[in-house]
Parts: sequence; structure tokens; C-alpha cells
Amino acid sequence: MLSNLKGRNFLTLKDFTGEEIMDFLTLAAELKEKKKKGIFDKVYQGKNIALIFEKTSTRTRCAFETAAHDMGIGTTYLDSRVSQIGKKESIADTARVLGRMYDGIEYRGFGQSVVEELAKYAGVPVWNGLTNEYHPTQMLADLLTIKEHKGDFKGLKFVYMGDARYNMGNSLMIACSKMGMHFVAAAPKKYHPNPALVQECKAFAAASRGSISFEEDAMKAAKDADIIYTDVWVSMGEPDEVWEERIRDLTPYKVTMDIMNTAKKDAIFLHCLPSFHDLKTEIGKEMGERFHLTEMEVTDEVFQKYAEVVFDEAENRMHTIKAVIAATLG
Ligand code: CP
Ligand code: NVA
Repeated sequence: MLSNLKGRNFLTLKDFTGEEIMDFLTLAAELKEKKKKGIFDKVYQGKNIALIFEKTSTRTRCAFETAAHDMGIGTTYLDSRVSQIGKKESIADTARVLGRMYDGIEYRGFGQSVVEELAKYAGVPVWNGLTNEYHPTQMLADLLTIKEHKGDFKGLKFVYMGDARYNMGNSLMIACSKMGMHFVAAAPKKYHPNPALVQECKAFAAASRGSISFEEDAMKAAKDADIIYTDVWVSMGEPDEVWEERIRDLTPYKVTMDIMNTAKKDAIFLHCLPSFHDLKTEIGKEMGERFHLTEMEVTDEVFQKYAEVVFDEAENRMHTIKAVIAATLG
């Protein structure tokens, strides 16, 4: 089965079947187990990968670097300040250059069309490390964490609170619908994903016996949930002007203890991170002062109560990204 993944790009989970997603997860679990035992198969010794970040990152960059180093793979980090990308050289030419030197390329940036262009010209596997539209490596970490805590995906009720039109909402809807979960986005109508993507996901859900639905009442959405998930209200690259409107529109979807107590007793809380659960960040502090808040998308009480699982999820970024590299490198 894994051989189906060799040489493939990893741009969105839409491109993979539920079985292929399970293959990535099985491999990630094996690699996690091996790492815990101190076993590192340097099967890719001598290979090199390029890591392009046009937006900032802690988890994704560190996950790619540690995963690669564990497998004996060399890495080069590039961003728009230190490279010619975009300003002096097109994405197509960058892809053709990097494809001659590297065995795989990670890209984090803005439009999905950019990572698609890179993949079209690189001639080596390209991995999407986050675009405005999708965040597929995050999905594998989230799925592995759910599998570890819940055992299986089929029939689980997954509730996403917040802006469901962006990378996280879109990607979670795809991931849930591929794996047979019941995905509910709790958000005002204007924050629902685009109808074409909803239609695609409804077809995935029909095949996996999952479902897709939308609910404007956060409490109703949370009822009997197995997983409650949220993300920041303003994403990287969005203008500062949107904060006020987002805070006004999305505060009813903040994950509070009342929300968690409405979900199932053994429900888990997940967050892709970083998170504004207190005022210990520059932006958190600024918004706290401007809008008289002590936290945004999740209360500190909820965050601390479920911190163990949230940081399992963060750790799983590395094991799952290692699986993506291992499975797709040619
Ligand atoms: N979740 C995530 O992608 O984190 P980073 O932005 O730190 O990479
Ligand atoms: N929606 C967030 C996800 C960060 C991992 C962003 O794009 O900034």
C-alpha cells in the first residue's frame, strides 16, 4: 500500500483516499514508537530537502527539520527575506532550480495555487506546510492524536468552533469526511466554507459514512461531541483591521468550560496552535487591552485542562511529517 505514496505530492488530503491516510498514520505510529526506543533508520542518508517558509512557523519548521535529521536527511531553510523567491525569481523557476538539487520541497505560504505551481515544475515531491486554503500536515497530526485517544474515527462527532472558511476549517472538514467522522462547523453563516468544497466533502462523507453539517448555535453544536477543535480567529497574512469584527462575530464560539461540559464526558479538546488562551503574547496582550479580553478562541481554564492532549497533538506534527517524508520520497 505504501508504495502508492512514493513520489506523490502532499498538497491537500483531498488527493488521498481514507486508506492512504490510514497508511500515513500507521507509518507515523511506527516511527513514533521507534523514536521512543531510540531507533532511527537512516534510510534516506544522503538525501536533501528544501523548506520554504513565506509565513512564520514554530511547529511545522521544527517538525520537518527534526524528522529529516532523524532519517539522515539534510535540510535547507529558505524564506522570502534570504532567497530570491517571488521577488526576483518566479515560483516555476524556483521549482526547477530546487528540483535539480533537492529530493523534496516543503512550502508554507499564501495561495494554494503557489504550492500547486511549485509541484507542477519541481519534479520531486512537494509538501504543503500550510497555505491560506489548506494545512494537510496538521491534519495527519490531528488524526493521529484522535486515534491515540479515541481508538477509531468512525462515527465520532467532531465540532470545529470558529472561522470555518480558512485553512483549518477547510482541512478538518476534508479530514473528517475522508475518515467517517461527523463534522460540524459551529460558526455564523458568513464563516462557512465555500459551497463547492462542502459539496466535495459531502461526497467523501457519503462514501465513508460520515457527515457534514453547520450549526450557528455553539451549545447545540457541542452537544455529545467527541472532539472540540478551535483555531485562532485571525490567521497569518490577514490584515489587522479584521480583528474587531472577528472578536465580535466569533466570541460566542469561544471554547469555554460550558462548551466542554456540553460535549461528551470523555470529549477531548484540540488546537493546532499557536493559541491565544492568555495574554502572554504580544498580540494577545494588545487585543486584550484594546477589546478588554483575557483570552480569545479558548479560555485558559479549558486550555490547561486539556493541555496534555494538545501537546500530544503538537508532538505528533513531527511523527506524522516524518511519515509523509518517508512515504513520499522517491
Ligand atoms: N500548527 C502550526 O502549523 O504551527 P506553526 O505555525 O508553529 O508551524
Ligand atoms: N489558521 C492559522 C493556522 C495556524 C497553524 C493560520 O493560518 O495562521
